[in-house]
Amino acid sequence: MWRRGGLWVLLMMLNCMSFENPWKTCEGQSPIDVVDGELATDTPGYQKNIFGHIKVRESCHSHIYDWESRPHSVSITEFGAVGDGKTLNTHAFENAMFSLRSYADKGGVQLYIPKGTWLTGSISLISHLTLFLERGATILGSEDDNDFPIIPALPSYGRGRELPGPRYSSLINGENLTDVVITGDNGTIDGQGLVWWTAFHNKSLGYTRGHLVELINSKNILISNLTFQNSPFWTIHPVYCRYVVIKHMTILAPLHSPNTDGIDPDSCQHVCIEDCYIAGGDDGISIKSGWDEYGVSFGRPSSHIQIRRIITDSHSSSGISFGSEMSGGISDVKVEDMVIYNHLFGIRLKTAVGRGGYISNVSISNVVMHSVRTGIAIMGNYGQHPDDHWDREAYPLINRVTIKNVVGENITHAGLLSGISERPFHDIRLINIALDVTSDSAWNCSAVSGSYYFVLPKPCADLEQKGVQEESEE
Ligand SMILES: *[C@@H]1O[C@H](CO)[C@@H](O)[C@H](O)[C@H]1NC(C)=O
Ligand SMILES: *[C@@H]1O[C@H](CO)[C@@H](O)[C@H](O)[C@H]1NC(C)=O
Ligand SMILES: *[C@@H]1O[C@H](CO)[C@@H](O)[C@H](O)[C@H]1NC(C)=O
Ligand SMILES: *[C@@H]1O[C@H](CO)[C@@H](O)[C@H](O)[C@H]1NC(C)=O
Ligand SMILES: *[C@@H]1O[C@H](CO)[C@@H](O)[C@H](O)[C@H]1NC(C)=O
Ligand SMILES: *[C@@H]1O[C@H](CO)[C@@H](O)[C@H](O)[C@H]1NC(C)=O
Ligand SMILES: *[C@@H]1O[C@H](CO)[C@@H](O)[C@H](O)[C@H]1NC(C)=O
Repeated sequence: MWRRGGLWVLLMMLNCMSFENPWKTCEGQSPIDVVDGELATDTPGYQKNIFGHIKVRESCHSHIYDWESRPHSVSITEFGAVGDGKTLNTHAFENAMFSLRSYADKGGVQLYIPKGTWLTGSISLISHLTLFLERGATILGSEDDNDFPIIPALPSYGRGRELPGPRYSSLINGENLTDVVITGDNGTIDGQGLVWWTAFHNKSLGYTRGHLVELINSKNILISNLTFQNSPFWTIHPVYCRYVVIKHMTILAPLHSPNTDGIDPDSCQHVCIEDCYIAGGDDGISIKSGWDEYGVSFGRPSSHIQIRRIITDSHSSSGISFGSEMSGGISDVKVEDMVIYNHLFGIRLKTAVGRGGYISNVSISNVVMHSVRTGIAIMGNYGQHPDDHWDREAYPLINRVTIKNVVGENITHAGLLSGISERPFHDIRLINIALDVTSDSAWNCSAVSGSYYFVLPKPCADLEQKGVQEESEE
């Protein structure tokens, strides 16, 4: 068995990584490796990542479009809002959205939220809008469920995610929008989720909880430079969206708050998430695409998703997860440079018979894990179905998943790879993985195939060992 300490220190030295500051560059050392093409090492903007590789510090911006500042800015106070934390400002926000529509063809408009605490029910945004929260400004979600209209279930779910029927609207929401920026100088949007979590636990909710922010069928979205906290349910939920950038966000919820995922791109294409700190009660980031027969027939995949430089911390669920709702398919996902603390699972793909769909062409690299129960999990036995009409023969396809450059300390189990016997998971590749495992059972595999190269502890025999030569040929 792998003894803690020795190799770990060696890896740290080799790769010049630091737990305190995982993004720290390794000044004055020669490059160990070059990834993602031929890069000139003296080009500005290049740095070493946590594994010592030289690479461009990529930015989401280049993938979407240039965000320009708005020529007009109007403060929420002009619509009669009061920032005392007590006055309900729902109507002020409604009036603002109604009158700011006229700026759509004038370069859009910024709605400025000054310092103060602005209590409100749900707010429906408009296109060509920047919602800007000043430092010290907090948009505070009402604790009264009457302030959250009931809205239809999403077609790819066929019902609310946790209860049949429609669902509560989200605190900040929008549908069919284009060109929306939610940003500021680290202002706060606080969902006051405690009443929702309590009602969820005591089973007194009539409908599925809303999100802190949900955008439906929208495009050209930027969410940045803010703190989001205490969401009733998943925190940021872009669904059926394209061209979404989420960066420089702090997302917080108590460690045991139910289902407070950080960011859940759901049936979205061209999403870029970078430089976020997420500490909540559930998954840090979870990529989804609808549920069972509803997700299959709606058929909207999540694809072309990039995630980088994310720190997550929670005592439950996963740092980065895929599914379990993946019935519309998930592909072309690249995750790199993550630090994952304390979760039950570090990296987790979850699905079930009945889901159909696929998770393919996924690459996850440069991940550091601390005190995680199971480092890598790819599981086909996730329960939960929307109703009893799910197809007993809808076997999901899980293939072409590469997990590379992972180190972990105080990991209980290295991996649980449990496929579905009717359609085993295949082309699962594990490369350069060193986990300091504290239990005797490191890997547990079934109905899975693929390969590995330099993985410690040694994976199960279901995966084929590759040599240096074979690996470099791929
Ligand atoms: C969004 O567009 C869809 C399809 O055109 C339409 O059915 C729906 O009513 C629109 N929703 C809103 C809030 O405008
Ligand atoms: C933003 O505020 C949060 C919560 O107070 C804090 O943890 C974080 O460090 C702040 N981020 C920046 C960039 O100031
Ligand atoms: C359940 O929680 C809600 C929200 O806190 C509360 O209003 C309600 O009285 C509670 N119901 C029961 C049966 O405890
Ligand atoms: C967010 O903060 C970064 C770093 O402080 C800054 O460069 C960027 O302009 C800010 N973005 C917006 C939209 O305010
Ligand atoms: C995954 O990539 C392979 C090779 O490029 C391609 O043939 C396949 O269609 C892709 N799968 C999905 C679901 O996009
Ligand atoms: C190791 O991880 C477990 C959780 O799996 C945690 O309870 C324990 O405190 C961690 N130990 C150290 C030394 O960090
Ligand atoms: C392996 O995982 C399965 C779940 O997929 C579990 O039932 C079984 O007990 C595990 N075996 C070991 C030895 O941990």
